[in-house]
Amino acid sequence: MKKILVATEKPFAPVAVEGIKKVFEKAGYEVKLLEKYSDKADLLNAVTDADAMIIRSDKADAEVIKAAKNLKIVVRAGAGYDNIDLTACTENDVVAMNTPGQNSNAVAELAFGMMLYNIRKGFNGASGSELRGKTIGIHAYGNVGKYVALIAKGFGMKVYAFDPFVSKEDIEKDGITALESVEDLYGTCQYISLHIPANEKTKKSVNSELMSKMPKGATLVNTARKEVICEECLLKVFEERKDFNYLSDLAPDCQKEIEEKYAGRFVFTAKKMGAQTSEANINAGLAAAEQIVNFFEKGDITFKVNK
Ligand code: 3PG
Repeated sequence: MKKILVATEKPFAPVAVEGIKKVFEKAGYEVKLLEKYSDKADLLNAVTDADAMIIRSDKADAEVIKAAKNLKIVVRAGAGYDNIDLTACTENDVVAMNTPGQNSNAVAELAFGMMLYNIRKGFNGASGSELRGKTIGIHAYGNVGKYVALIAKGFGMKVYAFDPFVSKEDIEKDGITALESVEDLYGTCQYISLHIPANEKTKKSVNSELMSKMPKGATLVNTARKEVICEECLLKVFEERKDFNYLSDLAPDCQKEIEEKYAGRFVFTAKKMGAQTSEANINAGLAAAEQIVNFFEKGDITFKVNK
């Protein structure tokens, strides 16, 4: 009987866990849950006899992959797979997958939740401002970026996007304006919503040059990864521009300094909250479970991300 480990330091909603269990029960697989663990040793221990594993932002590094002697597949229930050591997976004949698009709406809605909280002064009684008529630039037009565009149009914002991997035609068919360069995007938009993955090319790539190009009332919204921000640059821009705001799903490493000096100009989540809805958990969790069953039963590797 195949053994499946669901290892979630930040658990799925119970309804999603029930759904995942049903998918595996139907396939005749055994499911083990490891939730809210704080010690990596617990993960190393739980993974030893697993044939497959579902994770979220949990770190599947080389040590974890090697400890998983029977592992054939690891599925990241979500979009970003920067938490998986893909080389270790390939070296150990483990297929790594993600579940693209399944939690995108939840992430996009959180971006607007943070924007509204910030522009309405944390609902503290003071007079705030409105999103209508403001410019928003979507940095990377993937699954989340598309939902951000859709919602932004509903708010009456002027929507722009830049993505070197998506054609101008594909962006503009959604009724938004494609810009030629990332510099143009930051130079045009009061709001920038980040949707780039974290990889060797993008880490620290959002730098002072880009941030300082933003027009007055600049608000950088990061529901991607904190690692894509150059934090020294972030502090410099906070200091130089009194109009600059940073809203991030997961606080930066320089959180303390920002909180001490720049009250009212930031929103930080305590845990990564973008995908933390029942709907997103059901979509991503069930997709992950089904991908595992399809992999074992049909050899389906559609969402494989390693070589
Ligand atoms: C993702 O990459 O899908 C999001 O960052 C969600 O991450 P989470 O599953 O840890 O909430």
